Amino acid sequence: MADRKRGHFITLEGGEGVGKSTLQSALAARLAATGLEVVTTREPGGTPLAELVRELALHPPRGNNWSPMAEALLMNAARSDHLDKVVRPALESGKWVICDRFSDSTRVYQSVKGGVPIDVLKGFEEWVIGETQPDLTFVLDAPPSTTDARRLSRDQAKDSFETRSSAFHAEVRAAFIDLAKSEPERCRLIDASQPAAVVADTVWSDIQGLLSQKISAR
Ligand code: TMP
Repeated sequence: MADRKRGHFITLEGGEGVGKSTLQSALAARLAATGLEVVTTREPGGTPLAELVRELALHPPRGNNWSPMAEALLMNAARSDHLDKVVRPALESGKWVICDRFSDSTRVYQSVKGGVPIDVLKGFEEWVIGETQPDLTFVLDAPPSTTDARRLSRDQAKDSFETRSSAFHAEVRAAFIDLAKSEPERCRLIDASQPAAVVADTVWSDIQGLLSQKISAR
């Protein structure tokens, strides 16, 4: 985006249990320590309405399932509200936004896995996201030996997405790897099987580049 005063938009992607939330907290703390204002948020969610959509999408009433197309529409409805009310205002006021999941998750879960044509999703992206594309996306990747243990150790009730089979999670993992490799300018593929502090250090060094641009633009 041309506006040099705009903040920066970082998205964290990957399958369940790769450590996105832990990384988000670590990055937010490091950015805040440099004096920058940071907003941490997530998708689906991030606004009262989008959190309602999250609940509806992830926890449909027992015996009911959304079609992949309906899921894609729900994710984009939530995203539109989130972008309008949280992400764009924060970026416009110069803040950094770190978002746990964004449109790459829609591509992986609803298109690669769900079968919604990618062109349909690209159409949604054009209208819903427009120019508010992430500056950098960190795609966290870890083997099942790491992610299964993390998923099982969560004490929150599993949502309908997390109760899927290990074959499903393996396909999601492969789809995220492909996606990261297909957009090397924006995406960094991170080995998230390393200790959390090492993951944060690795990601932080990529962010340093953006940070120095930001400081020189002040
Ligand atoms: P999480 O926030 O705990 O990672 O869970 C969110 C779930 O929602 C996860 O299984 C991925 C799924 N999801 C989609 O299917 N499409 C999307 O566009 C997004 C943002 C998430």
